[in-house]
Amino acid sequence: MHDYLDIAIRAARAAGQMQKERLWSEHDIEFKGEINLVTEVDKACEELIVGMIRAACPDHDILAEENDYAANGAACKWIIDPLDGTTNFAHGFPWFGVSIALEVDGVVRLGVVYHPMMDELFTAVKGEGAFVNGRPLHVSVRQPLKNCLLATGFPYDRTWVNENNFDNFMNFQMCARAVRRAGAAALDLAYVAAGRLDGYWECKLKPWDVAAGQLLVAEAGGTVSNHAGDPFSVYDHRVLASNGLIHAEMVEVLKKVPCRLPADVIEMGHKKT
Ligand code: IPD
Ligand code: CA
Ligand code: CA
Repeated sequence: MHDYLDIAIRAARAAGQMQKERLWSEHDIEFKGEINLVTEVDKACEELIVGMIRAACPDHDILAEENDYAANGAACKWIIDPLDGTTNFAHGFPWFGVSIALEVDGVVRLGVVYHPMMDELFTAVKGEGAFVNGRPLHVSVRQPLKNCLLATGFPYDRTWVNENNFDNFMNFQMCARAVRRAGAAALDLAYVAAGRLDGYWECKLKPWDVAAGQLLVAEAGGTVSNHAGDPFSVYDHRVLASNGLIHAEMVEVLKKVPCRLPADVIEMGHKKT
């Protein structure tokens, strides 16, 4: 697994370096949906990462955000968000990163999240703990919920569908210390792992948003589930991650306005007509 971790680290650093160098230059922006952007840097980073992984592991499957790659039913599948936080990146707001995970026989075994502007590399191998720049990570010990700092995000279809997380956001604002919306799910999860956030929830996410980050949280001693508190799958779009101590309280809040959409009807920000 450590050979694969090295590959993921090299790829994440290379893509992160490109993001840092190009952040404040002019971007070629396209729309994947009404408000879902993609830049030339998202695409170039995916090409770079996939190229590095393919060169080292030609038989592995790839699931990445910007392109479809033919799946061979391989036991090993890389799950890649080449640039998480594209809206921030496109606006020159320096909060985004790279997320790379490796799933083996349906289980995420390693995860890397790189935050280039802070030069922070978050890594985890299943069963071996989580680290930032080589230092062990642990979730916070803060509780109860009213003393906690949370994060969330909102889906790209938020202006034309009801299941947009707004009610949950208000409910948590009323019972936590504060709720942030920074704009990069992978970093939100890495920050829960680092104890800088106490909890995080979101809905309508894709496997590449959460695969690496959820392993970081679990390996840092936290709890990751769906919104009902049941075991999490990266193919469910409803994630709830916390330091564990406030998990039950967060599940109770999410129960008030459950997001019931099945995973296979989630759109990537394309307005349904
Ligand atoms: C998005 C970010 C954002 C989250 C969105 C994601 P992208 O990923 O992680 O924080 O709220 O739901 O889609 O599109 O920037 O890779
Ligand atoms: Ca993403
Ligand atoms: Ca992305």
